[in-house]
Amino acid sequence: MQSLLDRKLLFITGKGGVGKTTMAATLGLLAAQEGRRTIVVEVGEQSRMAELFGAAPAPAGDETRLQERLSSISIDPNRALLEWLQALGGRVSGRLLASSGTFQYFAAAAPGAKELVSMVKIWQMTRAGRGRRSHDLVIVDAPATGHALGMLGSPQTFGAIARVGPIAGQTRHVEELLKDRARTAYVAVALATEMAVTEALELQAGLERQLDRELSAVIVNGLLPRRFSTAEMAQIAALEQNGVSREDARASGMSAGEGRTIAAAAARAARAVHERSRFQHNQLARLRRRSFEVLSAPFVWGEGIDLEAVQLLARQLARKL
Ligand SMILES: Nc1ncnc2c1ncn2[C@@H]1O[C@H](COP(=O)(O)OP(=O)(O)O)[C@@H](O)[C@H]1O
Ligand SMILES: [Mg+2]
Repeated sequence: MQSLLDRKLLFITGKGGVGKTTMAATLGLLAAQEGRRTIVVEVGEQSRMAELFGAAPAPAGDETRLQERLSSISIDPNRALLEWLQALGGRVSGRLLASSGTFQYFAAAAPGAKELVSMVKIWQMTRAGRGRRSHDLVIVDAPATGHALGMLGSPQTFGAIARVGPIAGQTRHVEELLKDRARTAYVAVALATEMAVTEALELQAGLERQLDRELSAVIVNGLLPRRFSTAEMAQIAALEQNGVSREDARASGMSAGEGRTIAAAAARAARAVHERSRFQHNQLARLRRRSFEVLSAPFVWGEGIDLEAVQLLARQLARKL
Protein backbone atom coordinates (compact mmCIF):
# COMPACT_ATOMS: atom_id res chain seq x y z
CA MET A 1 0.00 0.00 0.00
CA GLN A 2 1.14 3.51 -0.78
CA SER A 3 2.39 5.16 2.40
CA LEU A 4 0.05 7.68 3.90
CA LEU A 5 2.67 10.41 3.73
CA ASP A 6 3.54 9.62 0.17
CA ARG A 7 0.91 11.93 -1.30
CA LYS A 8 0.49 15.54 -2.24
CA LEU A 9 -2.48 16.17 0.02
CA LEU A 10 -3.56 14.72 3.35
CA PHE A 11 -6.98 15.85 4.44
CA ILE A 12 -7.56 15.35 8.16
CA THR A 13 -10.96 15.59 9.72
CA GLY A 14 -13.17 14.09 12.45
CA LYS A 15 -15.47 15.16 15.23
CA GLY A 16 -14.69 18.38 17.12
CA GLY A 17 -12.04 18.04 19.82
CA VAL A 18 -10.84 14.54 18.91
CA GLY A 19 -7.29 15.67 18.14
CA LYS A 20 -7.30 16.74 14.48
CA THR A 21 -4.89 19.61 15.08
CA THR A 22 -2.65 17.42 17.24
CA MET A 23 -2.53 14.74 14.53
CA ALA A 24 -1.94 17.30 11.76
CA ALA A 25 1.07 18.53 13.76
CA THR A 26 2.23 14.97 14.43
CA LEU A 27 2.01 13.87 10.80
CA GLY A 28 3.58 17.15 9.71
CA LEU A 29 6.53 16.63 12.01
CA LEU A 30 6.93 13.05 10.86
CA ALA A 31 6.82 13.96 7.17
CA ALA A 32 9.37 16.74 7.66
CA GLN A 33 11.67 14.45 9.62
CA GLU A 34 11.51 11.99 6.75
CA GLY A 35 12.69 14.69 4.39
CA ARG A 36 9.45 15.97 2.85
CA ARG A 37 8.89 19.69 2.52
CA THR A 38 5.62 19.90 4.37
CA ILE A 39 3.06 22.57 5.09
CA VAL A 40 0.19 22.27 7.55
CA VAL A 41 -2.86 24.28 6.56
CA GLU A 42 -5.17 25.39 9.32
CA VAL A 43 -8.65 26.25 8.19
CA GLY A 44 -10.64 28.87 10.06
CA GLU A 45 -9.33 31.43 12.43
CA GLN A 46 -7.04 29.12 14.30
CA SER A 47 -3.26 29.28 14.22
CA ARG A 48 -2.31 26.68 16.78
CA MET A 49 0.61 25.32 14.81
CA ALA A 50 2.92 28.31 15.35
CA GLU A 51 2.12 28.31 19.05
CA LEU A 52 2.84 24.60 19.35
CA PHE A 53 6.22 24.93 17.67
CA GLY A 54 7.07 28.13 19.50
CA ALA A 55 7.30 30.16 16.29
CA ALA A 56 6.22 33.76 15.88
CA PRO A 57 2.99 33.52 13.88
CA ALA A 58 2.97 35.20 10.47
CA PRO A 59 -0.06 37.31 9.51
CA ALA A 60 -3.06 35.27 8.29
CA GLY A 61 -2.48 34.02 4.78
CA ASP A 62 1.33 34.01 5.11
CA GLU A 63 3.49 31.01 5.69
CA THR A 64 5.06 30.53 9.12
CA ARG A 65 8.29 28.57 9.28
CA LEU A 66 8.06 26.04 12.10
CA GLN A 67 11.29 24.11 11.69
CA GLU A 68 13.35 22.59 8.95
CA ARG A 69 11.12 21.56 6.02
CA LEU A 70 7.98 22.31 8.05
CA SER A 71 5.75 25.34 7.84
CA SER A 72 2.15 26.28 8.49
CA ILE A 73 -0.38 28.67 7.06
CA SER A 74 -3.90 29.51 8.03
CA ILE A 75 -6.73 30.04 5.60
CA ASP A 76 -9.71 32.08 6.66
CA PRO A 77 -12.53 31.08 4.27
CA ASN A 78 -14.33 34.43 4.67
CA ARG A 79 -11.22 36.34 3.80
CA ALA A 80 -10.44 34.00 0.92
CA LEU A 81 -13.91 34.64 -0.51
CA LEU A 82 -13.60 38.39 -0.06
CA GLU A 83 -10.28 38.40 -1.90
CA TRP A 84 -11.74 36.34 -4.68
CA LEU A 85 -14.71 38.68 -5.07
CA GLN A 86 -12.39 41.67 -5.13
CA ALA A 87 -10.19 40.10 -7.78
CA LEU A 88 -13.25 39.19 -9.76
CA GLY A 89 -15.10 42.47 -9.39
CA GLY A 90 -12.29 44.90 -9.91
CA ARG A 91 -14.86 47.66 -10.02
CA VAL A 92 -16.34 46.73 -6.68
CA SER A 93 -14.20 48.26 -4.00
CA GLY A 94 -13.17 46.15 -1.06
CA ARG A 95 -14.69 48.64 1.32
CA LEU A 96 -18.06 48.42 -0.35
CA LEU A 97 -17.94 44.65 -0.30
CA ALA A 98 -16.96 44.51 3.34
CA SER A 99 -19.31 47.16 4.61
CA SER A 100 -22.50 47.08 2.60
CA GLY A 101 -23.62 43.62 3.49
CA THR A 102 -23.02 42.63 -0.13
CA PHE A 103 -20.43 40.20 1.06
CA GLN A 104 -22.64 38.63 3.70
CA TYR A 105 -25.41 38.48 1.17
CA PHE A 106 -23.21 36.80 -1.38
CA ALA A 107 -21.68 34.39 1.11
CA ALA A 108 -25.14 33.29 2.23
CA ALA A 109 -26.59 33.11 -1.28
CA ALA A 110 -23.74 31.13 -2.79
CA PRO A 111 -23.36 27.93 -0.81
CA GLY A 112 -19.97 26.37 -1.22
CA ALA A 113 -18.30 29.58 -2.46
CA LYS A 114 -16.06 30.13 0.59
CA GLU A 115 -15.25 26.45 0.70
CA LEU A 116 -14.34 26.33 -2.96
CA VAL A 117 -12.02 29.35 -2.90
CA SER A 118 -10.36 27.79 0.17
CA MET A 119 -9.95 24.51 -1.70
CA VAL A 120 -8.44 26.37 -4.65
CA LYS A 121 -5.85 27.86 -2.31
CA ILE A 122 -5.06 24.39 -1.00
CA TRP A 123 -4.75 23.01 -4.53
CA GLN A 124 -2.36 25.85 -5.38
CA MET A 125 -0.16 24.88 -2.46
CA THR A 126 0.28 21.40 -3.91
CA ARG A 127 1.84 23.00 -6.99
CA ALA A 128 4.89 25.08 -7.67
CA GLY A 129 4.07 28.79 -7.75
CA ARG A 130 5.78 31.89 -9.01
CA GLY A 131 9.39 31.56 -7.93
CA ARG A 132 8.51 28.91 -5.40
CA ARG A 133 9.02 25.16 -5.38
CA SER A 134 5.98 23.11 -4.57
CA HIS A 135 5.58 21.50 -1.18
CA ASP A 136 6.03 17.75 -1.17
CA LEU A 137 3.08 17.38 1.15
CA VAL A 138 0.18 19.60 2.13
CA ILE A 139 -1.61 18.54 5.32
CA VAL A 140 -5.00 20.10 5.87
CA ASP A 141 -6.16 20.42 9.46
CA ALA A 142 -9.75 20.54 8.27
CA PRO A 143 -12.84 21.58 10.21
CA ALA A 144 -15.11 18.96 11.81
CA THR A 145 -16.72 16.31 9.61
CA GLY A 146 -19.85 18.10 8.32
CA HIS A 147 -17.94 21.24 7.40
CA ALA A 148 -15.11 19.23 5.94
CA LEU A 149 -17.51 17.38 3.66
CA GLY A 150 -18.84 20.80 2.62
CA MET A 151 -15.33 21.78 1.55
CA LEU A 152 -14.84 18.54 -0.34
CA GLY A 153 -18.20 18.86 -2.07
CA SER A 154 -17.68 22.50 -3.03
CA PRO A 155 -16.49 21.82 -6.60
CA GLN A 156 -19.92 20.29 -7.18
CA THR A 157 -22.04 22.73 -5.15
CA PHE A 158 -20.43 26.00 -6.15
CA GLY A 159 -18.38 24.97 -9.16
CA ALA A 160 -21.54 24.47 -11.13
CA ILE A 161 -22.50 28.14 -10.70
CA ALA A 162 -19.04 29.71 -10.84
CA ARG A 163 -18.59 30.02 -14.55
CA VAL A 164 -16.72 33.29 -14.42
CA GLY A 165 -13.19 34.24 -13.59
CA PRO A 166 -10.23 32.00 -13.11
CA ILE A 167 -12.11 29.85 -10.64
CA ALA A 168 -14.07 28.10 -13.35
CA GLY A 169 -10.96 26.31 -14.60
CA GLN A 170 -9.53 25.82 -11.13
CA THR A 171 -12.65 24.00 -9.97
CA ARG A 172 -11.87 21.12 -12.28
CA HIS A 173 -8.31 20.88 -10.96
CA VAL A 174 -9.57 20.80 -7.37
CA GLU A 175 -12.00 18.03 -8.19
CA GLU A 176 -9.37 16.00 -9.99
CA LEU A 177 -7.00 16.37 -7.05
CA LEU A 178 -9.63 15.27 -4.53
CA LYS A 179 -10.57 12.22 -6.58
CA ASP A 180 -7.01 11.14 -7.30
CA ARG A 181 -6.00 8.20 -5.09
CA ALA A 182 -2.31 8.66 -5.83
CA ARG A 183 -2.25 12.32 -4.78
CA THR A 184 -4.86 12.68 -2.03
CA ALA A 185 -5.56 10.66 1.12
CA TYR A 186 -8.30 11.19 3.68
CA VAL A 187 -7.65 10.59 7.34
CA ALA A 188 -10.26 10.57 10.08
CA VAL A 189 -9.27 11.15 13.67
CA ALA A 190 -11.53 9.57 16.29
CA LEU A 191 -11.49 9.00 19.98
CA ALA A 192 -12.25 5.43 20.93
CA THR A 193 -15.83 6.28 21.81
CA GLU A 194 -18.92 4.99 20.15
CA MET A 195 -19.95 8.41 18.83
CA ALA A 196 -16.58 9.33 17.38
CA VAL A 197 -16.23 5.96 15.68
CA THR A 198 -19.73 6.28 14.24
CA GLU A 199 -18.81 9.72 12.92
CA ALA A 200 -15.69 8.32 11.26
CA LEU A 201 -17.85 5.72 9.54
CA GLU A 202 -20.24 8.46 8.42
CA LEU A 203 -17.31 10.33 6.96
CA GLN A 204 -16.39 7.23 5.02
CA ALA A 205 -19.93 7.09 3.62
CA GLY A 206 -19.83 10.81 2.73
CA LEU A 207 -16.55 10.46 0.88
CA GLU A 208 -17.94 7.60 -1.12
CA ARG A 209 -21.11 9.50 -1.98
CA GLN A 210 -19.47 12.80 -2.90
CA LEU A 211 -16.18 11.82 -4.45
CA ASP A 212 -16.30 8.09 -4.95
CA ARG A 213 -13.40 8.01 -2.50
CA GLU A 214 -12.68 6.29 0.80
CA LEU A 215 -10.81 6.93 4.02
CA SER A 216 -7.19 5.85 3.83
CA ALA A 217 -6.77 5.68 7.57
CA VAL A 218 -8.49 6.30 10.86
CA ILE A 219 -6.28 7.42 13.71
CA VAL A 220 -7.76 6.43 17.03
CA ASN A 221 -6.43 9.04 19.40
CA GLY A 222 -6.10 9.07 23.17
CA LEU A 223 -5.95 5.32 23.52
CA LEU A 224 -5.30 3.92 27.00
CA PRO A 225 -2.95 0.97 27.32
CA ARG A 226 -4.21 -2.49 28.20
CA ARG A 227 -2.52 -2.97 31.54
CA PHE A 228 -3.86 -6.27 32.83
CA SER A 229 -4.03 -9.75 31.41
CA THR A 230 -7.06 -12.00 31.98
CA ALA A 231 -5.18 -13.89 34.69
CA GLU A 232 -4.31 -10.66 36.46
CA MET A 233 -7.92 -9.52 36.28
CA ALA A 234 -8.95 -12.76 38.00
CA GLN A 235 -6.50 -12.02 40.81
CA ILE A 236 -7.80 -8.49 41.06
CA ALA A 237 -11.38 -9.78 41.32
CA ALA A 238 -10.31 -12.12 44.13
CA LEU A 239 -8.62 -9.25 45.89
CA GLU A 240 -11.76 -7.15 45.60
CA GLN A 241 -13.78 -9.94 47.15
CA ASN A 242 -11.46 -11.27 49.82
CA GLY A 243 -9.16 -8.39 50.65
CA VAL A 244 -5.69 -9.22 51.90
CA SER A 245 -4.69 -11.70 54.54
CA ARG A 246 -4.36 -10.60 58.15
CA GLU A 247 -0.60 -11.24 57.93
CA ASP A 248 -0.17 -9.11 54.82
CA ALA A 249 -2.18 -6.31 56.38
CA ARG A 250 -0.14 -6.44 59.56
CA ALA A 251 3.13 -6.45 57.60
CA SER A 252 2.02 -3.10 56.10
CA GLY A 253 1.13 -1.73 59.51
CA MET A 254 -2.65 -2.00 59.01
CA SER A 255 -5.43 -3.74 60.81
CA ALA A 256 -7.20 -6.56 58.94
CA GLY A 257 -10.19 -4.22 58.35
CA GLU A 258 -8.04 -1.46 56.91
CA GLY A 259 -6.26 -3.96 54.71
CA ARG A 260 -9.59 -5.18 53.36
CA THR A 261 -10.87 -1.67 52.64
CA ILE A 262 -7.73 -0.52 50.88
CA ALA A 263 -7.37 -3.71 48.88
CA ALA A 264 -10.98 -3.44 47.72
CA ALA A 265 -10.54 0.22 46.70
CA ALA A 266 -7.35 -0.55 44.76
CA ALA A 267 -9.01 -3.50 43.05
CA ARG A 268 -12.02 -1.35 42.06
CA ALA A 269 -9.72 1.30 40.61
CA ALA A 270 -7.80 -1.32 38.64
CA ARG A 271 -11.05 -2.76 37.30
CA ALA A 272 -12.26 0.70 36.20
CA VAL A 273 -9.02 1.29 34.26
CA HIS A 274 -9.35 -2.14 32.71
CA GLU A 275 -13.00 -1.68 31.71
CA ARG A 276 -12.33 1.67 30.11
CA SER A 277 -9.45 0.38 28.07
CA ARG A 278 -11.47 -2.73 27.13
CA PHE A 279 -14.29 -0.52 25.87
CA GLN A 280 -11.82 1.52 23.83
CA HIS A 281 -10.30 -1.59 22.28
CA ASN A 282 -13.78 -2.84 21.37
CA GLN A 283 -14.34 0.41 19.46
CA LEU A 284 -11.00 -0.17 17.78
CA ALA A 285 -12.19 -3.61 16.73
CA ARG A 286 -15.31 -2.02 15.21
CA LEU A 287 -13.02 -0.01 12.94
CA ARG A 288 -10.67 -2.86 12.13
CA ARG A 289 -13.40 -4.70 10.29
CA ARG A 290 -13.21 -2.03 7.57
CA SER A 291 -10.95 -1.59 4.60
CA PHE A 292 -8.97 1.40 5.84
CA GLU A 293 -5.83 1.34 7.90
CA VAL A 294 -6.42 1.78 11.64
CA LEU A 295 -3.65 3.54 13.52
CA SER A 296 -3.64 4.39 17.17
CA ALA A 297 -2.12 7.21 19.17
CA PRO A 298 -1.81 6.92 22.94
CA PHE A 299 -3.24 9.29 25.46
CA VAL A 300 -0.41 11.56 26.59
CA TRP A 301 -0.52 12.55 30.24
CA GLY A 302 0.48 16.08 31.08
CA GLU A 303 -0.80 19.59 30.86
CA GLY A 304 -2.15 19.51 27.34
CA ILE A 305 -0.25 18.77 24.19
CA ASP A 306 3.06 20.56 23.76
CA LEU A 307 5.86 20.04 21.26
CA GLU A 308 7.37 17.29 23.38
CA ALA A 309 4.06 15.42 23.33
CA VAL A 310 3.84 15.82 19.54
CA GLN A 311 7.36 14.41 19.20
CA LEU A 312 6.37 11.45 21.35
CA LEU A 313 3.23 10.86 19.27
CA ALA A 314 5.29 11.11 16.08
CA ARG A 315 7.70 8.43 17.30
CA GLN A 316 4.79 6.15 18.18
CA LEU A 317 3.03 6.70 14.87
CA ALA A 318 6.22 6.26 12.87
CA ARG A 319 6.39 2.64 13.98
CA LYS A 320 2.94 1.97 12.57
CA LEU A 321 3.13 3.80 9.27
N1 LIG B 1 -3.17 11.90 22.43
C1 LIG B 1 -3.58 12.86 23.26
N2 LIG B 1 -3.35 12.75 24.59
C2 LIG B 1 -3.76 13.71 25.44
N3 LIG B 1 -4.41 14.83 25.08
C3 LIG B 1 -4.68 15.01 23.77
C4 LIG B 1 -4.28 14.05 22.80
N4 LIG B 1 -4.67 14.53 21.57
C5 LIG B 1 -5.28 15.70 21.79
N5 LIG B 1 -5.30 16.01 23.10
C6 LIG B 1 -5.89 17.20 23.72
O1 LIG B 1 -7.25 17.24 23.35
C7 LIG B 1 -7.68 18.55 23.04
C8 LIG B 1 -8.23 18.60 21.62
O2 LIG B 1 -7.20 18.34 20.69
P1 LIG B 1 -7.10 19.10 19.31
O3 LIG B 1 -5.95 18.50 18.57
O4 LIG B 1 -7.12 20.56 19.47
O5 LIG B 1 -8.48 18.60 18.67
P2 LIG B 1 -9.29 19.16 17.40
O6 LIG B 1 -8.32 19.85 16.51
O7 LIG B 1 -9.89 17.93 16.80
O8 LIG B 1 -10.33 20.06 17.94
C9 LIG B 1 -6.47 19.44 23.23
O9 LIG B 1 -6.55 20.03 24.48
C10 LIG B 1 -5.29 18.50 23.16
O10 LIG B 1 -4.23 18.98 23.93
MG1 LIG C 1 -8.36 21.80 15.72
